[in-house]
Amino acid sequence: MDVRRLIYLSAKPSAEIRQFFEQCDWQVKPVKSVKEVTKALDGFDAAGGLLDLAAGLPLHEIEALDACLAMPNIGWVAIVSPGQLADSTMRRLVRDYCSDYVTVPVVPERAVRAVGHARGMATLAGTPQQAPVHHVTEGDMIGSCESMQALFRSIKRVASTDASVFIAGESGTGKELTAAAIHQRSSRRDAPFVAINCGAISRELVQSELFGHERGAFTGATQRRIGRVEAANGGTLFLDEIGDLPLESQASLLRFLQERKIERLGGQESIDVDVRIISATHVDLDSAIADGRFRHDLYHRLCVLRIVEPPLRERGADIELLAFHLLGHFRRDAGRRLQGFAPDAMEAIHRHTWPGNVRELGNRIRRAVVMAEGRLITAKDLELDHLVDQTPVSLNVAREAAERMAIERALLRHRGRYGEAARDLGISRVTLYRLMDAYRMREPDSPGLDKPGKGHDDHSEAD
Ligand SMILES: Nc1ncnc2c1ncn2[C@@H]1O[C@H](COP(=O)(O)OP(=O)(O)OP(=O)(O)O)[C@@H](O)[C@H]1O
Ligand SMILES: [Mg+2]
Repeated sequence: MDVRRLIYLSAKPSAEIRQFFEQCDWQVKPVKSVKEVTKALDGFDAAGGLLDLAAGLPLHEIEALDACLAMPNIGWVAIVSPGQLADSTMRRLVRDYCSDYVTVPVVPERAVRAVGHARGMATLAGTPQQAPVHHVTEGDMIGSCESMQALFRSIKRVASTDASVFIAGESGTGKELTAAAIHQRSSRRDAPFVAINCGAISRELVQSELFGHERGAFTGATQRRIGRVEAANGGTLFLDEIGDLPLESQASLLRFLQERKIERLGGQESIDVDVRIISATHVDLDSAIADGRFRHDLYHRLCVLRIVEPPLRERGADIELLAFHLLGHFRRDAGRRLQGFAPDAMEAIHRHTWPGNVRELGNRIRRAVVMAEGRLITAKDLELDHLVDQTPVSLNVAREAAERMAIERALLRHRGRYGEAARDLGISRVTLYRLMDAYRMREPDSPGLDKPGKGHDDHSEAD
């Protein structure tokens, strides 16, 4: 049987309330602080929440409540004392985050019903339309899976040293973001982060790009130019696609790494430069070394510490997290009202092997944002429709699926407040009830609840 869990946040938990919930087959976890709420909610399971405002919470706890109450997988109901909602902070917390409230003295049956309903709504948060919440970021990087967590730990560790770092990983996995994150975490963060793509510069120009040149050093050198190495002085130099560096420049780079001095092309002066080197490549350097295309000794200088980026296909649910993140990004740019991904798009996203990794995901989503005709991105918009089952669906089935999803999202957005959800959907509250009954999204004839104050009707748990 589905275990129904109640997180009971109260400075003075009542034994009577607890017992009553337990008799109704709830597993009750009393907690006294916001911090404990996050701990109590291990994993992604939905839970009911009972927020005891009547018993009082210290000010620092009240201040920390927003982030905790915003977690979509807990459906909250508040306990308030008479008149407490006259206080604007209390009123805001209840209005914005709770789907109902009960007034002391609490009638336990009513509390159980309200929490049952709130938890029911919170279980909807598990639908693909809601990005998972427990994600972690490192600089601009997002990732919650174990391999990304390990990567973030490595970033922190290497950032505290000054040793050269080599980043390996398939194309589009985030090597440049990682390099930037290391720089940001290092003591060099206030000095420049200079990136140079060794594969993108013509052979003749590499030397001058890296080390600069004096006026008249070669035809066309009309003025002195500072090279990238020198420009990064005090900071971090990111040598991207290091595998493409011509052998001749490999020798100069090695000399620089040994002496930490540069000479501009055509110049006499030897200039001290203090940089931290991070390099990356998506090519297999081992075979380049074996073929004599890359210097063994340079590789050892560059690769004092090594970081490997996990490919996207090995990041599990992170792929959804990234898809929502990227959609949010491109949607803003496009100014479109796209609401998310259709189920076939999510299916395709999970099936594709993503040879181009996060970059490919971003490109496909960017294109889909432009091409999508509906409110949801489909597998076809992502050009991944060959990966999903194309059994034809009738218009009725498609319409029902789309309506269900829109209703779920609107209710989620408004934490179960029917009136506001209906307004968003452009339909009357009565039509919303009728649709929800038709799609068996609630117990027939259970009246809706709306704003606190009207919220003491008989609610049953949404299924
Ligand atoms: N973990 C992540 N979170 C958010 N965005 C990411 C993440 N990883 C990569 N990206 C995005 O994917 C794109 C590719 O990232 P990046 O340029 O760092 O990859 P790369 O490994 O250097 O790729 P290439 O091998 O093609 O040079 C960028 O737009 C970046 O913002
Ligand atoms: Mg790159």
